[in-house]
Amino acid sequence: MTQHDRLLIIDFGSQVTQLIARRLRELKVYCEIHPYQNVTDAFLAEFSPRAVIFSGGPCSVFDEGAPMPPRSVFDLGVPILGICYGQQAMMQMLGGKVERGHKTAEFGRAYVVPKDGKLDLLNGWFEDEREQVWMSHGDHVSEIAPGFEVYGTSPNAPFAITADPSRHFYAVQFHPEVHHTPNGRKLYENFIRIAGFTGDWTMGAYREDAIAKIREQVGDKRVICGLSGGVDSSVAAVLIHEAIGDQLTCVFVDHGLLRLNEADEVVSMFRDHYNIPLIHADESKLFLGELEGQSDPETKRKIIGRLFIDVFQKHANEIEGAEFLAQGTLYPDVIESVSFSGGPSVTIKSHHNVGGLPEKMGLKLVEPLRELFKDEVRALGRELGLPEKFIGRHPFPGPGLAIRCPGEITRDKLDILRQADAVYIDQIRKHGLYDEIWQAFVAILPVRTVGVMGDGRTYDYACALRAVTSVDGMTADYYPFSHDFLGETATRIINEVKGINRVTYDITSKPPGTIEWE
Ligand code: XMP
Repeated sequence: MTQHDRLLIIDFGSQVTQLIARRLRELKVYCEIHPYQNVTDAFLAEFSPRAVIFSGGPCSVFDEGAPMPPRSVFDLGVPILGICYGQQAMMQMLGGKVERGHKTAEFGRAYVVPKDGKLDLLNGWFEDEREQVWMSHGDHVSEIAPGFEVYGTSPNAPFAITADPSRHFYAVQFHPEVHHTPNGRKLYENFIRIAGFTGDWTMGAYREDAIAKIREQVGDKRVICGLSGGVDSSVAAVLIHEAIGDQLTCVFVDHGLLRLNEADEVVSMFRDHYNIPLIHADESKLFLGELEGQSDPETKRKIIGRLFIDVFQKHANEIEGAEFLAQGTLYPDVIESVSFSGGPSVTIKSHHNVGGLPEKMGLKLVEPLRELFKDEVRALGRELGLPEKFIGRHPFPGPGLAIRCPGEITRDKLDILRQADAVYIDQIRKHGLYDEIWQAFVAILPVRTVGVMGDGRTYDYACALRAVTSVDGMTADYYPFSHDFLGETATRIINEVKGINRVTYDITSKPPGTIEWE
């Protein structure tokens, strides 16, 4: 059990609860997320938090059996911050009122302006008169609880920021944890300062802890690690190698859904940089065969997830004493499939790392990055001394090009997609934009359009370019390429890639879109 001061996040099922933990870890605060069902009076007494945060959530306080924290949380005498649904739950329990939303529902950007009165939580806020915040609520508070005052309002949320400073209870309608509340970090900084945290939780501490945990879990058994060449699996492999040395064997599965020349690059890159045994499994026939005729996104993901596990098991059987399968599963993979620790959030996508796992697989999982966000994985990679070349790579999803080929997957479409993607990334690199972008790729659309080239008619595929900025993959904005760049890229793709005659640019943010197309 950790010696650090602890902050408790009570999870009501928000898609972004993990980001609260993320923000707190940036501030070097040790915190744990627990679904509200597990937080009982006895749990609170045992956990003994220095502060508590109520997350947002998809429920309404009007729902039957609406999730609530135990009343005793308000008697702990520690600071409490309620966010979105957490704010509404807090208000209702302390004697305020909540109203059903409909007309006042708010999703996306909003601006909060201050009300009279100074609040310690708001140090460093409102220097520019108003603050941009990210709202995502249906219901809203209509009457604040006794003892509370209003410190900030937005057009659709008159009680955007409320507090009872004497008890250090704070409640906000927006999400300070997301990237699109640019000054949200300040609120957390103030909150933990008020609670008296010293900031003693670091990536170095995480590394030591993770290594000790891997050694304890694995003992003298062998581990196989699914290596994709991406940041996550590379960091996982190096971390596990540091923990257990040559008890680790890496397996690189080529599912036929990789980008141009990727398989060769990954294998040679890994062999150049590491001294870890690597099996190169070319299983493209198997994967593409089973995917034939499938067009439903969840079915595709589940097939790929299942085959990955089968292939690993096959190779594991050849490695004597292999009992563990290591994966670079991250927090976002976990949150969007099931909520942390079985909490109540809604399924958006089955990520291949966790979706489709057979009930009774013969291997136990080692997932040392399961609690980290992408940028934390990069920080851990640097801590472990990985070359910048690995660390700077854009994320590439486990199901690969399958989820960039909406509808049915054919070899033909995959080949066209690979060529187009290579041209696009080449353009981005040539213009010096690669490192500014979180992720960029082409999706080939399941639609053909009419064009004219030379004197002839064409009837070829349309494709969409995607490029987003993000810090953690949980929220994202489209990248604002210049029209010149887009025009030049479209021309190059259409001229250089046979099979594409129309190029579009995807300008959807996340939410409401997701980064990948499926
Ligand atoms: P979405 O599309 O959900 O993607 O906004 C968020 C981030 O996750 C990546 N992604 C995956 N990564 N297995 C992975 O390892 C998956 O099944 C998977 N699906 C999406 C995506 O590329 C983006 O970086």
